[in-house]
Amino acid sequence: MNNKLYLVYISLSGNTESFVKRLTTFLQFQSDLDVETVHVKDLVKQEIPFYALDAPFAAFLPTYLEGGNGVDNGDVEILTNPLGDFIAYKDNYKRCLGVVGSGNRNFNHQYCLTAKQYAERFGFPVLDNFELRGLQNDIERVGRKLLDLMAAE
Ligand SMILES: Cc1cc2nc3c(=O)[nH]c(=O)nc-3n(C[C@H](O)[C@H](O)[C@H](O)COP(=O)(O)O)c2cc1C
Repeated sequence: MNNKLYLVYISLSGNTESFVKRLTTFLQFQSDLDVETVHVKDLVKQEIPFYALDAPFAAFLPTYLEGGNGVDNGDVEILTNPLGDFIAYKDNYKRCLGVVGSGNRNFNHQYCLTAKQYAERFGFPVLDNFELRGLQNDIERVGRKLLDLMAAE
């Protein structure tokens, strides 16, 4: 069993960051996993070069799409692309347990669409989704899924 888990994410307005921080607390309380967070926006901002991860990770991806409706248009990712670049870097995607999408259901067909696109692009599953900052039951549901996946590693 691998004892280290990375939570890799990007957050522009703080919702995903809030979810990842609360999820980290949950995982640390429920297990002896060594949980490390990587905010890809910070790497870019601080000009830290991307690197290969040495343990499994889950990706957390809010949805930002360029207009449209998600059916015949509006499927172009904006603002979150650095997360995809980090996942693609040095085969990091091979260590990805899956992606957790987030967004706002008001966007209908575009709800969490980018997470589905990443799953198709990289060949890992969409593990789950949540709206905005996520509720406590979202944290616990996602946390339990990650603990099950880590137990199988
Ligand atoms: C310009 C803009 C575009 C957005 N597009 C979508 C979208 O296409 N689908 C969706 O589910 N949510 C969409 N959202 C909602 C965000 O995904 C949601 O607010 C998310 O929680 C933001 O995460 P963050 O605070 O970590 O950046 C959009 C929000 C903004 C501001």
